[in-house]
Amino acid sequence: MIKIALIGFGTVGRGFAKALIYNRNIIQRKIGEFRVTAICDSKSSITGDFKIEDAIKYKLDKGRLPENRNAEDIIELGDFDVLVETTPTDVFSGEPGLSYIKKALTTGRDVITSNKGPLVVAYRELMTLAERHGAKIGFEATVGGAMPVVKMIRDELAGNRIRRIRGILNGTTNYILSRMEKEKAPYPQILSEAQELGIAEADPGYDVEGIDAGAKLVILANSVFGKDVKFDDVEVRGITRITPEAFEIAVEKGYTIRLIAEADEDGKLEVSPRLVKLTNPLAIYGTLNAVLIETDLAGEIFVIGRGAGERETASALISDLVDFYGNCSFH
Ligand code: HSE
Repeated sequence: MIKIALIGFGTVGRGFAKALIYNRNIIQRKIGEFRVTAICDSKSSITGDFKIEDAIKYKLDKGRLPENRNAEDIIELGDFDVLVETTPTDVFSGEPGLSYIKKALTTGRDVITSNKGPLVVAYRELMTLAERHGAKIGFEATVGGAMPVVKMIRDELAGNRIRRIRGILNGTTNYILSRMEKEKAPYPQILSEAQELGIAEADPGYDVEGIDAGAKLVILANSVFGKDVKFDDVEVRGITRITPEAFEIAVEKGYTIRLIAEADEDGKLEVSPRLVKLTNPLAIYGTLNAVLIETDLAGEIFVIGRGAGERETASALISDLVDFYGNCSFH
């Protein structure tokens, strides 16, 4: 029986909890019996014997959970094998998730997170901590949402030298740029519509200034290229200065403009708006994410998928759960 503690019960945390309910049979076939033994948000909690459905209902009705334990209390109680951490991202301090993750790893518990902040601030430290305490840390959900990228590179491309990764790692800006291209609408108007889609960061500056894409690039550079880079090492330029007029000129010449994140084996780390040929696979539309991975043996691999959303993020979190405890044999 795998015991799961869930810290963070906002959109992402609840999305994960709902997916555990909807896909219980599928997940159970792969990891065996599991139980959520504790859930907490920033001010309240639920522990002991409870149904996930009841916790979701309580939170939606009352705006909180029935008990007063906080995340530290839950980790100290220790009634879990894996901590699923879905608290809000702060890419500059990594907190509060960073402290929770460190504490859980230190007690030998596995951790799965959707929170970019801790990995951007302390990637190497967390990997070392996990190794020292015989614990695992999964972070597929931090990069590209449902789009398989972190474990795909680790596992499916395991025999390759990865030369370069180039892609679109932020759905909000891709949506804004797509709409600018098609409708020549100005940026502020589209930004507010992008926020209504519910995939923009709480502070949309994270999206439009390129911070979110830069954070994801740091995680990829550290995990794929074995670097020890921080957010400050990324050259970041966002999309705030892109105008509908720029698109007119670009499209006339057969190009569009996309916010491209690029990391390579030589240490290049850049997020910037770039001209992309309209025929290039990276000229994708809407809220999608995509990455083009250049390898020595496999050549180019192109992955595309939904980079955000509660169900999509749940898909990635569960993929780590199955990676840790699962038996992924075919039917
Ligand atoms: N704000 C992010 C995006 C959400 O638009 O891609 C996923 O990290």
